[in-house]
Amino acid sequence: MTPAARRPRISIVQAGLHVGETVEIPGWLYNLRRSGKIAFPILRDGTGILQCVAVKSQLPESLFESVKGLTQESSIIVTGRIRQEPRAPGGYELDLENLEIFQRVPEAEPYPITPKEHGIDFLLDHRHLWLRSRRQHAVLKIRHEISRAIRDYLDSHGFTLLDTPVFTPAACEGTTTLFEVNYFDHEKVYLTQSGQLYNEATAMAFGKVYTFGPTFRAERSKTRRHLTEFWMVEPEMAYATLEDVKQVAEELIVFVVGRVLENRRAELAVLERDVSKLENIKAPFPRMSYDQAVELLHQKGSEIQWGADFGGTDETLLGEDFNLPVMVDRFPTAIKAFYMQPDPERPEVALGVDVLAPEGYGEIVGGGQRIHELDLLLRRIDEHGLPREAFDWYIDLRRFGTVPHGGFGMGLERCIAWICGLEHVRETIPFPRMLYRTRP
Ligand code: 4AD
Ligand code: MG
Repeated sequence: MTPAARRPRISIVQAGLHVGETVEIPGWLYNLRRSGKIAFPILRDGTGILQCVAVKSQLPESLFESVKGLTQESSIIVTGRIRQEPRAPGGYELDLENLEIFQRVPEAEPYPITPKEHGIDFLLDHRHLWLRSRRQHAVLKIRHEISRAIRDYLDSHGFTLLDTPVFTPAACEGTTTLFEVNYFDHEKVYLTQSGQLYNEATAMAFGKVYTFGPTFRAERSKTRRHLTEFWMVEPEMAYATLEDVKQVAEELIVFVVGRVLENRRAELAVLERDVSKLENIKAPFPRMSYDQAVELLHQKGSEIQWGADFGGTDETLLGEDFNLPVMVDRFPTAIKAFYMQPDPERPEVALGVDVLAPEGYGEIVGGGQRIHELDLLLRRIDEHGLPREAFDWYIDLRRFGTVPHGGFGMGLERCIAWICGLEHVRETIPFPRMLYRTRP
């Protein structure tokens, strides 16, 4: 075909705008059904899935034969007329007129992922290809929707996006989960655990800020909630209290769930997500103190002691009675990070909050109010055995116009797992990094 004879090139999602027209769609062969006289190559192009119809009597013989010989995931460009077809998954079909094969996947070495069940390790080893599957496509479209909703919410509520560094000289969330990096030959730095400390500096310059990027924890936990590299959105506000932090977290979560329901129903359906559970997510969320949470856990048979952090099972137990995220505040100061503001009325608890997702998904948000007094901060840095010199700039923020301030971090992958109803966070990120997995 000469270039002049080319048909308009569209993507599958645009099919509805071209009914009755002959168009060209580039993509990959998702599946092929065939009989002697008719073949149904199913095309995917990243925007959708479209069934094509190739009728032997209407096509040159060689063309019909090459359609019949197509192999899964071969890259192809189909040309044909779009027709409305209420029974088809997307509502349209294409009557095939021509086919260009860009690369035919050889039969001798076929596409490794077939509709049969594969084990999770096999799929993770083939993550670079697994991404093409319908379920993974749905999860990652929802991931994008959630990221966009987070940005839209914060951007329209006066927050300025200020990216924080990945190479950092100091620990934010405890020294036991740091990844150390040799920074040339003169210094050791760590991969960031959280952008919070830098957010505190930008918040004093811009008022309301956020950072949204990858964070790293050398956590030796092999659970369904832990990645070693995960994405976190972290808003931070000057002149803010614990109550302000809770309100923003609550509004953000409600907004994000609403957006997914508005724009990603089809993907939620692919995942067979019970959307009534998501439709229920409205403010206000139940709130309780750590003390009350411990009491509730005792009633539920947990043996947790006052002063201990919640384990995964405790988080699941706490969430199971509510159809909403639960906000737990005022954890023991001793188990929280050095920067947490102790409650002035009761210094053994800190003005921090965790948000636990419903349906047993555990903690999705952690945050609170930060120490703003210089002396107290210095004392806490010492008590945690942290080197003051690594925090000199952070300490400076308490010397020059210090104010009460606070913020939180929301784990993107934990949110996705909850909203999609997934068993494990490993499917929520294109290329998961876990204790025993750094490939592909
Ligand atoms: O509770 P965390 O440790 O809080 C902070 O890092 C604060 N500095 C944030 C802030 O106030 N700006 O982590 C926040 C959230 C958790 O609630 C969880 O959703 C997620 O980050 N998270 C993880 N997600 C996946 N894998 C891991 N290993 C995670 N660790 C934390
Ligand atoms: Mg936490």
